[in-house]
Amino acid sequence: MSMPRLSSSRVLASPWKNASASFTPKHINLRVNSRGLSVVLRPSPPPPPPQQPLQFTRRFSSPVDFAAEGPQDVVSEKQEMVVETGGISAANRTENIPPKVKKFLGYIEMEFVVKGRPAIAFYGEFWLRDNCQCPKCIHPDTRQRSVDTFKIPQDVSANKVRYESRAVVVDWSDGHTGVYPIFWLLAHQNKSPERPYPSKPGPSLRRFRKFHPTDPNSSYPTVKHEEVMKDNKAVFDWLEKIYDWGFCFVEGVPVEPQATQKLIERIAFVRHTHYGGFWDFTADLSYKDTAYTTEFLGAHTDNTYFTDPARLQLFHLLSHTDGQGGESLLVDGFRAAQLLKLENPQHAKALYKYRQPFHSSGNEDACIQPAIQYPVFVTHPTFKRQLYQIRWNNYDRAAKVDWSSKEQEEWYSAARHFNEIIQRKDLEIWTQLQPGTALIFDNWRMLHGRSEFVGKRRMCGGYVNNDDFLSRYRLLKFGREAVLRNLGNTYNSESNPNMLF
Ligand SMILES: [Fe+2]
Ligand SMILES: [Zn+2]
Repeated sequence: MSMPRLSSSRVLASPWKNASASFTPKHINLRVNSRGLSVVLRPSPPPPPPQQPLQFTRRFSSPVDFAAEGPQDVVSEKQEMVVETGGISAANRTENIPPKVKKFLGYIEMEFVVKGRPAIAFYGEFWLRDNCQCPKCIHPDTRQRSVDTFKIPQDVSANKVRYESRAVVVDWSDGHTGVYPIFWLLAHQNKSPERPYPSKPGPSLRRFRKFHPTDPNSSYPTVKHEEVMKDNKAVFDWLEKIYDWGFCFVEGVPVEPQATQKLIERIAFVRHTHYGGFWDFTADLSYKDTAYTTEFLGAHTDNTYFTDPARLQLFHLLSHTDGQGGESLLVDGFRAAQLLKLENPQHAKALYKYRQPFHSSGNEDACIQPAIQYPVFVTHPTFKRQLYQIRWNNYDRAAKVDWSSKEQEEWYSAARHFNEIIQRKDLEIWTQLQPGTALIFDNWRMLHGRSEFVGKRRMCGGYVNNDDFLSRYRLLKFGREAVLRNLGNTYNSESNPNMLF
């Protein structure tokens, strides 16, 4: 069955006659609109709706034209798009200034005043009804959508709009009263009917701090076990260090597996894989993987064979008897990628471009391969070219078929170059793990390895998923309220809780 089509008559049939305003008129910044379209949220009766067919084109006033901004600054003054936690929030900046609302065919325009300047935003009309934020539409406990999207009439229309307690309240044609807090509206706007949310391309690299192992003044990011176990602020500090530096040591961990597992669980549950959950192992090749041997292990990332590689990995050396060696190696993959790009942009491009097949097949009962092949440098599809994950494991790389010999040549020279960079002395971070000090690192960024060893080592540790790590970090960093208000917000700003990769 075909659905009824929208026509411009719909707009004409639902004028804003009933528009009322529950705010004090002195707050309203009346402005003559050159297009003569209706300004709804004001006390005087609005002019009639447009008679001509509406077009999805308009000029932007310069203060809110994102395209006009420089490409580099991801934070800048556009942070008002994001509901912040501390300091002056978007809500405060727009305090008690009702937006001017205009209705067009299929969409609604709202003009806010943010930091004293006009900011025009657009919302699809059906989308706005579907995304009503009232407790009937978003379950207050589960935060799940309770409205049945497909029972909303396709031609649902806003009949009446008012402004109440910093929210836009809409009387919809289907009888529902929709509620939209101003800061939610700001965090979910389109820049024009045909242009989605103002997405500025991100920088090619996530902001990160570089650790310089050859600098004698540099000290390792470290937290204390005791503090992490008792205080969420210390957990936040820990996660921030992991995110910023790519790794962190935890001192004062009781030298036993249970305490180590509890430490990991301050972040999230331990991720199970075909190697088990929390590990407690000696080099006995119990699993057929070089990690379970005593051999030298070159810098690599784990889990390249998973669709979703583990994000964090924690190691705690419980004992090392009758021998020596087995120093731990870390290499900052982001820094190495940055160097590669600087030294040869074509090489960096090849590692972004060519996808490789990875697998884990050592155990009889497993042959794990990701759902799709991934490149070595995994980049963000929304924030163009933003590198957020490194997959580098020459041990687990299978034979790629779907490329020409010319493409092979390109990839191998790039990979050779990258392999040379990650072995530079000023990138290699070597540490000797000691019982009582755990090492945790970001497996989406840091490559890790180990020198060969003799004797008997007992090591324990485990993985944590990306989603669970970021959930914990995001909530501790921004607070639950701001995180919830920004759900779905993809505005590229450091104050957007969703901009953690
Ligand atoms: Fe590994
Ligand atoms: Zn609702």
